[in-house]
Amino acid sequence: MLRLSFTALLPCILTSVFAQGLTESSLEKHVDSLALDFSFGPVKEAYWTGYPHHRRTPFAVSPDGSAAYLAYLDASETDVHVQQVDPKTFAAVGSAVTVAGGKEAAGLVAHSDGFALLTNEALPSGTSNVPADGTPVPVLYRYTDGQQSWKTYLGGPGVHEDFGLVASPDLNGDLVFSEEAGLYGAYFVVTAYTGSAAGHFGDSIQYVAKDGSLQDITGASSSWGCSHNTGIAFEAADAAPFASICAEDQGAIWLNTQTQTMNGVKISNENTTNGGSGEPMGGMSGSYSGLARLTGTDSYVFAWVSRGAKDLTVNDWLGDGFTHSINRTNGRNVAIAQLTNKSTLDGEEATSQVGAADGDSQVNWITEGTADNSNAHVAAFNSESVLVTWEEIAEPQCDFVAMGCRGAFTGAYYQLVTNGKKVGEPVRAMDTFVAGDMVTMSDGRICWPYVAMDWDLSQAVPYGGSKATTTKMSFACMNLGGSASQVQQTSSNPTTSAAPSPEEATGGAPSTTAVPRTADAPETSSAVDPTNVEATTSATPPTSTLLTSVRTESEAPSTATTPVESAGSPEVDEPTTSSAARTVTSVPDSTETAAPVETPTSQTRPHPPCGGRRRRGARRSSAPEPPR
Ligand SMILES: *[C@@H]1O[C@H](CO)[C@@H](O)[C@H](O)[C@H]1NC(C)=O
Ligand SMILES: *[C@@H]1O[C@H](CO)[C@@H](O)[C@H](O)[C@H]1NC(C)=O
Ligand SMILES: *[C@@H]1O[C@H](CO)[C@@H](O)[C@H](O)[C@H]1NC(C)=O
Repeated sequence: MLRLSFTALLPCILTSVFAQGLTESSLEKHVDSLALDFSFGPVKEAYWTGYPHHRRTPFAVSPDGSAAYLAYLDASETDVHVQQVDPKTFAAVGSAVTVAGGKEAAGLVAHSDGFALLTNEALPSGTSNVPADGTPVPVLYRYTDGQQSWKTYLGGPGVHEDFGLVASPDLNGDLVFSEEAGLYGAYFVVTAYTGSAAGHFGDSIQYVAKDGSLQDITGASSSWGCSHNTGIAFEAADAAPFASICAEDQGAIWLNTQTQTMNGVKISNENTTNGGSGEPMGGMSGSYSGLARLTGTDSYVFAWVSRGAKDLTVNDWLGDGFTHSINRTNGRNVAIAQLTNKSTLDGEEATSQVGAADGDSQVNWITEGTADNSNAHVAAFNSESVLVTWEEIAEPQCDFVAMGCRGAFTGAYYQLVTNGKKVGEPVRAMDTFVAGDMVTMSDGRICWPYVAMDWDLSQAVPYGGSKATTTKMSFACMNLGGSASQVQQTSSNPTTSAAPSPEEATGGAPSTTAVPRTADAPETSSAVDPTNVEATTSATPPTSTLLTSVRTESEAPSTATTPVESAGSPEVDEPTTSSAARTVTSVPDSTETAAPVETPTSQTRPHPPCGGRRRRGARRSSAPEPPR
């Protein structure tokens, strides 16, 4: 290999760090390093479209760096296993702890003596005031030295009963912990089964002290916030309220740290349809590593995907100050927003001006093009730099408005962003994805779990759900320092960088527009059963009248024009949010029966507003679901 003299190398390093950013050799892979005690199903089908998503495997490292844990749902879809992991080798330490009855691994916090897990589970039989049919409720577990030390329900009987009781059939959300505040915080999607919001979907923010006691913190705890939340980004702060962001079904993404509801600081305008807003924070199995706190600061970086926004019109259900918009693009692009602190945007808010042609001029785009990008995440390297990641379909087919797209997967991308600006080109990989929390390690690397598999985004998950399972977990790390140390290699001989796959070798670290479009895409995937009937994916879901129904049925009460300006106590929030819920209640039931597509178990669940969170098969209106 060509050796460069020190004087020749030095400018090369400097040039590289600033011009090149990360390189392929900054990406370290620990393929199949962790043997699982139980089998895991890595593919979860998305709400509405059935398109494949990575099933989330929460990952966390203790503050002292000594203990790492991975949580995963058993392939049977009941029982969550938590496996301790060596943070250096990413191999197993001991055997898994099983949290029996857990239905989803929805958030994990690591401590030096154990972990806390956010999951959802059916309440024990004999409990009164439970949701119908064993619908699971959110629950927080704390394990110390392998033993359960406490368990605290975050929904169901006894939790904010004055508002109404809630359950979480899909636990979309996240769990964080602040040592400074002495609090766990959980932000998650709920459906109410008693009270004025019964039958509708919203979200809840709950705080739990270190001893397991559920707290009711004025101006921070929330029983009901964003309507039909389609994405959550949540990160700890030194005191409650923690930094929170929601994507709702009306037209915006809100920094709602101070309001806990669908108002506050408007980060972006999003086109919404049928309860979707383009899966901005990952949709089903997403809502993690969307908001990162810059190390040692009060600042945060938020990453999401968006179709942009144009042609703003009044949202006459919510009233003045609330808007609808048309998407600017067919596919989704990656965007970031910087926060100077947990409740303040560094930069302009999105406009709420009715009639505005541009609804997205404030957005800091990380990608701009015709590809569809999804599964965006962000984690901090240090006090100013973050890693932003996403997955790309270079030539997408977007059959459903405001949902995900399908097409040949053309790469996962890893972009260095410093002080809000892209540095160099993104690293692209065909074999390394983000499928669980991205964690800043004590040595400054960012590491995350994934399942090494052929990743196929070209079609919906087969009827009845993916059958793919694995007993191996892989980890990848991005090393910021590694980009400089690899300069000599990459600048002298680009083909020598760490064992690229054939796909990677064709691309190096291309811009998204330079990605070869056809060479990389596997025609079928060995991990995702290719027998799905693709024709069913283009069927139009039968519930497109829902938004119209909401609008025409709405009373648009005068209080709705300034619904949530008085941020603060849950008592203040509650009339606002329950009035929204009452409005939604007027959606005729017939719109629900127009979509006879739910699983037997979900059929009896409360129905959500604006299209609902149907777990699967929304596109398959005639075929019955098999028993699960
Ligand atoms: C979202 O955009 C579509 C066009 O892609 C449009 O038909 C629909 O009305 C928009 N949604 C809203 C709430 O304006
Ligand atoms: C966040 O920054 C804003 C603007 O500088 C300031 O008014 C506010 O007090 C800060 N909030 C916190 C919690 O630090
Ligand atoms: C808006 O998005 C939908 C898919 O969600 C797409 O069909 C439509 O073409 C997009 N509109 C524009 C202007 O690109």
